Amino acid sequence: METFTNLTSQLSILEFSYLVASILFILGLKKLSHPATARSGNLWAAAGMGAAILFTILFHKTNVQLADGTYESKGIHNIGWIVVALAIGSFVGWYASVKVKMTAMPQMVSIFNGMGGACAALISLMEFPKMQNHFASLDASHMLNGEGIAILLGLMIGGVSFAGSMIAFGKLDGRIGDIKHPVLRIVNLTFLVVMLVALVLILFMKPQTDNNLPIYLFAVAALVYGVTFVMPIGGADMPVVISLLNSFTGVAAAMGGFLYGNQAMLTGGILVGSSGTILTILMCNAMNRSLLNVIIGAFGVAGAGGTEAADKTVKEISLSDASILLSYSQKIFIVPGYGLAVAQAQHLCHELDNLLTSKGVEVKYAIHPVAGRMPGHMNVLLAEADVPYEKLVEMEDANNEMNNTDVVIVIGANDVVNPAAEDDPSSPIYGMPIIKALDAKNIIVMKRSMAAGYAAIPNNLFYHPKNRMLFGDAKATLQKLVAEIKSL
Ligand code: TAP
Repeated sequence: METFTNLTSQLSILEFSYLVASILFILGLKKLSHPATARSGNLWAAAGMGAAILFTILFHKTNVQLADGTYESKGIHNIGWIVVALAIGSFVGWYASVKVKMTAMPQMVSIFNGMGGACAALISLMEFPKMQNHFASLDASHMLNGEGIAILLGLMIGGVSFAGSMIAFGKLDGRIGDIKHPVLRIVNLTFLVVMLVALVLILFMKPQTDNNLPIYLFAVAALVYGVTFVMPIGGADMPVVISLLNSFTGVAAAMGGFLYGNQAMLTGGILVGSSGTILTILMCNAMNRSLLNVIIGAFGVAGAGGTEAADKTVKEISLSDASILLSYSQKIFIVPGYGLAVAQAQHLCHELDNLLTSKGVEVKYAIHPVAGRMPGHMNVLLAEADVPYEKLVEMEDANNEMNNTDVVIVIGANDVVNPAAEDDPSSPIYGMPIIKALDAKNIIVMKRSMAAGYAAIPNNLFYHPKNRMLFGDAKATLQKLVAEIKSL
């Protein structure tokens, strides 16, 4: 009786710790939604995970049947191995977070996400043989039950997420090119159907001791599907795909939580799965593209809408004219884009902002939700250069202030200020909300050439009478502009 009371009190301590961990995950996630609280949000969620791991090691018990038919409750063994694995994982995570460059962040997220998928798949690979042996000993006729479904879904989704994330990493790192052959779509669909049929067949299979071939074949099919699923998607679409794969990993982890009856794993998985799904939808909405459109890659296709401006002329502005215009303005909006990140010109951008602010000019930044190549890319980039958060204005609010803005400086941005999104129904970006640079009194666009951006379409803003181009690499141009303004 005393042992039973002991076991139940240890179980309730464990369950209480999972509840606390889940609350910490949710609060951490909430804090992640604002740059000022994001760091502490990360720590809160990490503390929740740390607590869940620690309490599991200390208090998890399993009832083991002894030879005389009685039960004994046993704690976790292999603690040495667990501690070694935790130490290696923590070191790799810490080292990567300290060393990785801001521009390589999507690659890192991709690898970490892949590891989550691999863990979920390995759990299933480990548990399936145990479950099959158990059911075979009971002489059951099939394995269609909650655990069977959780194991197979965990393996399928985790395997796809792992293999897909590795391909996404290769693409973002420039190691793997895009293979867009139309046959891949048929191959993809075939693999998906084969996997789903195999899943149903395995669930209805009669359990046989030590026959693990079907589950291994199923695992291989999931891995191959992960590769063929991501392979045809354009490299620049990878942030959306990573977010989608992230949600897959969450669902796969939740399957593990369901399997083990572990509430922390279950809530953690559900939170990752749902936030990944929400992020994927938000990104697609902000680009005015459907997920299917991202997956089959309609951007950048030759002949996509947008009129080529062969007969139009483009006006340039000299550095001295630009410096005078900026110095004598009252209010300026900077529109940062992908090119600012590529040029790593965020510090110079902030220097320009400080210089103009010291001259009494009001300087703010108009942030488009999908500027750059990853969610929050511009916020992270500008935070790295210590630009105060209050200077970053969200697109809708910035648009409301455009009418009384003297100059909009577009630095390395293109699609996010392309008026075709508003006035050209044939354009692939038609309907995407943009930063309405045209509403300001003057526009200066800094980029290297007339080349298109991510959507591979021309931009008529560049030819508008209000606009003047300041050609060159963003970093070099900003350097010269800052020097010019200082010499005024
Ligand atoms: P883009 O439309 O991609 O345009 C970037 C521009 O930067 C290019 O036209 C390029 O012109 C210029 N550039 C490149 N390197 C430069 C350098 N060193 N110095 C100066 N300029 C440079 O960028 P955007 O306006 O930020 O729009 C983002 C696009 O990415 C959108 O279409 C969005 O849908 C897509 N996207 C975003 C995300 C997320 S989550 N942010 C994810 C996937 C896709 P030059 O070559 O002439 O210099």
